[in-house]
Amino acid sequence: MKILVTGGTGYIGSHTVLALLESGHEVVVVDNLVNSSEESLRRVAELAGKAAVFVEADLLDEPALESVFGQHSVDAVIHFAGLKAVGESVQQPLAYYHNNIVGTLNLLRAMDAHDVRSIVFSSSATVYGEHNPIPYIEKMEIGANNPYGRTKEQIEDILTDLGAADTRWHVALLRYFNPVGAHPSGRIGEDPQGIPNNLVPFIAQVAVGRREKLMVFGGDYDTPDGTALRDYIHVVDLADGHVAALDYVATRPGVHRWNLGSGRGTSVLEMLHSFEKAVGHALPYEITSRRPGDLPAFWADASSALADLGWSTTKTIDQMTEDHWRWQKNNPNGYNAS
Ligand code: NAD
Ligand code: WQD
Repeated sequence: MKILVTGGTGYIGSHTVLALLESGHEVVVVDNLVNSSEESLRRVAELAGKAAVFVEADLLDEPALESVFGQHSVDAVIHFAGLKAVGESVQQPLAYYHNNIVGTLNLLRAMDAHDVRSIVFSSSATVYGEHNPIPYIEKMEIGANNPYGRTKEQIEDILTDLGAADTRWHVALLRYFNPVGAHPSGRIGEDPQGIPNNLVPFIAQVAVGRREKLMVFGGDYDTPDGTALRDYIHVVDLADGHVAALDYVATRPGVHRWNLGSGRGTSVLEMLHSFEKAVGHALPYEITSRRPGDLPAFWADASSALADLGWSTTKTIDQMTEDHWRWQKNNPNGYNAS
């Protein structure tokens, strides 16, 4: 199939483009490079032995989208493009709603106009909000507690309404848990701009000397070691989950939702200690106060993805930190000047 990947130069997108090329699909990437570099796709091409077509365009630019669909006969879309920092979304809700919601509406309208009605969408575990018991199951009522998460929830609603109104749509809503790691080659990985918000990129920058120490947000949670539990998933497993979902929806109309996670919780300190093993020495850290909005613990019920897609995670926490470290060590400044 020919797959249009929005946000395909980004962290999860670039790993998924590689998985698609390796599965024999053709790929067209649309990205405005607001949080990524085209260098990722050059390296994907090196790894795959073939290249994706790259179009630098913004999903807010309707004529540009129209021309992409006019020039390429696309069979399906994987939609990663969006802004994703929770804290920033609280400060700049309009920018987040505009970019994520209007960008998605433009994409869906262009798809509809060109008779392309298969889409795999990047949703997030954040849609489960604060009140659901763990583990999270797809049939639970959702309700995000921050503007970023609400954009994901609202896009899920838009796609659900679309699927109900027109049975020609094939929709997969994928709720990712905590993606970490990098391709085992160390050539592609996560390249956060500025101070990393997420745990593993922050630890990686401490390990490479770009940050002084890890601040562990909260040591007094009701968990085995007092630090919060999350369901970390290797980005290569996550990428494979997209290929599986795409194959599934290709022949099945309707709206399908799956958690992509491992089904296990790992603490902040366990993650840090695994990273230390990969690096070969201890890393400085300090336990500080809880981060506002954080939950003590959550992980996925991952059984639906296994039952429907035959997909489950294959990689361990140590593989995630080893691969993340290889990427960071080989590219201390990410895609810049390496
Ligand atoms: P990323 O920032 O690396 O990738 C997103 C890409 O979208 C970037 O390359 C960015 O330049 C592009 N983009 C943003 N707005 C755009 C626009 N208007 N037009 C064109 N391109 C645009 O982030 P990622 O971690 O790879 O995340 C990919 C998707 O998965 C996002 O939708 C994110 O919300 C979702 N997600 C991420 C996580 C995570 O922890 N990384 C967890 C759950 C869901
Ligand atoms: C993990 C744990 C922190 C940084 C976020 C988004 C979510 C999804 C994934 C997109 C928490 C602790 C972190 C640090 C720390 N993204 N931590 N020191 O918050 O589970 O999820 O990313 O959809 O929507 O909210 O991930 O990596 O930020 O934090 O102690 O410097 O690490 O408190 O317990 P989170 P995270």
